[in-house]
Amino acid sequence: MNASSPSPAQNQASTTSLYGGVVNRRVTVRDLASAKQRGEKWAMLTAYDALTAGVFDEAGIPVLLVGDSAGNCHLGYETTVPVTMDQMVMLSAAVVRGTKRSLIVADLPFGSYQESPAQALHNAARLMKEAGVGAVKLEGGERSARSIELLVDAGVPVMAHIGLTPQSVHAFGGYPVQGRGDEAAHRMLRDAKAVQEAGAFAVVLEAVPAELAAQVTAQLAIPTVGIGGGADTDAQVLVWTDMAGMTAGRVPKFVKQYANLRSVLGDAAKEFAEEVRSGAFPAEQHTFH
Ligand code: KIV
Repeated sequence: MNASSPSPAQNQASTTSLYGGVVNRRVTVRDLASAKQRGEKWAMLTAYDALTAGVFDEAGIPVLLVGDSAGNCHLGYETTVPVTMDQMVMLSAAVVRGTKRSLIVADLPFGSYQESPAQALHNAARLMKEAGVGAVKLEGGERSARSIELLVDAGVPVMAHIGLTPQSVHAFGGYPVQGRGDEAAHRMLRDAKAVQEAGAFAVVLEAVPAELAAQVTAQLAIPTVGIGGGADTDAQVLVWTDMAGMTAGRVPKFVKQYANLRSVLGDAAKEFAEEVRSGAFPAEQHTFH
């Protein structure tokens, strides 16, 4: 079997639904391109470890993002800025090991690609070779186009990320909505077209007015993945700890919490501690003789 004679499974890519259809192999960027053509919306979640990623894989989430949001959602930093390549490789390898079907996309962290396209390729190759991910994500529109081009030429599928790019938190002075006003909206459209032109297979639109995200989605051939971009993007991504109610304190307006894991886990820990204190645990059925 070579590149000119795809396997039957690869041939199914253009017609099979992302939900339940792609079962014996990983989801690919071709499946996502076909989903856009069919108008099929899809979900992406972040994941930072094998156990949680396995749950999402079994639940049928077609794309998992090892986001550098690991910085603030998993590793205890305040922002994504301190996250290193070594950390991303370790977390991504765990997510790959814990999954069978999801396409795994890993973030290139701050400082790992901005120096030059060559630096971007060096670090993208680490994520593919050492962790086994199927694609990488990097932030920036026109400013990252040359790097995207080199990665794509080298065979690395690239997801771009425009709008609110969290690695620029210090330049933005926080996490403000992007693309408001005519000039900013035009810049966003230019950025979106630049990453598509450079060969990105999808683009994340973060914290963008819904009307602008809809316009970008209509004008692009590649899928848009919204987070705080309204209902009209081709896909939606949430940080898993926000989605499942693990995050402490307030979550952004665009988050819907589908569970309250923080209180479930906290209650379980309190009950365990109470049963240890009272002597109720361990009981006879937990005891060897
Ligand atoms: O790092 C991350 O989790 C992300 C998502 C917010 C898209 O980039």
